[in-house]
Amino acid sequence: MVRFMVFLGLMWVLPIWMSTVTPQLCTSLGSLKDSLNASLRKRYLKYNFPVNYTIQVHYEEVFRLKNISKLRNDSADLRDLQELWFEVTETGIKKILDVLPEKHPTRRKYLAILYNHFLLIKQTLPVQNSDERVIPEVIQDIWQRLGDTNYQGWRPVTPKSLLDNCYRTMHCLFKDCFLSNSTHSNYCEPQHWRKGKETQG
Ligand SMILES: *[C@@H]1O[C@H](CO)[C@@H](O)[C@H](O)[C@H]1NC(C)=O
Ligand SMILES: *[C@@H]1O[C@H](CO)[C@@H](O)[C@H](O)[C@H]1NC(C)=O
Ligand SMILES: *[C@@H]1O[C@H](CO)[C@@H](O)[C@H](O)[C@H]1NC(C)=O
Ligand SMILES: *[C@@H]1O[C@H](CO)[C@@H](O)[C@H](O)[C@H]1NC(C)=O
Ligand SMILES: *[C@@H]1O[C@H](CO)[C@@H](O)[C@H](O)[C@H]1NC(C)=O
Repeated sequence: MVRFMVFLGLMWVLPIWMSTVTPQLCTSLGSLKDSLNASLRKRYLKYNFPVNYTIQVHYEEVFRLKNISKLRNDSADLRDLQELWFEVTETGIKKILDVLPEKHPTRRKYLAILYNHFLLIKQTLPVQNSDERVIPEVIQDIWQRLGDTNYQGWRPVTPKSLLDNCYRTMHCLFKDCFLSNSTHSNYCEPQHWRKGKETQG
């Protein structure tokens, strides 16, 4: 019974949209990718902060390539993970904004713009009216913890690492938008993102 209630609750909060990655979405994600390039991430999310500065996020807000591989093995489908990506990315950017004073250059020149851009993309996601999809329990549990305001699983992360992960997982989950000739285009492999290879993304 409890499980059933949780599921109903989820149907409410989950954005419901189609898995097909549309050309419009690819265009939007392509420009998001440009605003998240390696040099901009370094300048605005690392150099503009004190050395080793961290913010506190929930465990579930740390969403990396390894999580994707693990959740795929736990039978999550691509769409579950894309929805999760949108949620954790939004929360992550918001948390960084929360610690920045009004006039901080990262806020004014970069992150506030990026955030609005991101929200616009979210609004244009193709929506489906009804959906009989069954969401795996492992994904339901993550959504439940993400929405639980009393949940105490905190972890310190650097602002840059949040958006580095966002950048990489975006390439993995929306692969079709980022295909290239490169022989190293396996975006889901941590190997692909080893130091120095970043610019190939
Ligand atoms: C990142 O984008 C900025 C602004 O568009 C550009 O000047 C810079 O060369 C880009 N850096 C990389 C590594 O692509
Ligand atoms: C920042 O973290 C690195 C790696 O953990 C450490 O080597 C370095 O001493 C730290 N720097 C400061 C200023 O705390
Ligand atoms: C990703 O994995 C870490 C452990 O490495 C875990 O704490 C976190 O909750 C996972 N995130 C998601 C969204 O599953
Ligand atoms: C998922 O399964 C694949 C293939 O069985 C394996 O190579 C990979 O290490 C697994 N990933 C995780 C995070 O368990
Ligand atoms: C793919 O390779 C061809 C020939 O090497 C090149 O003309 C084309 O621009 C490349 N496309 C992409 C997306 O890199």
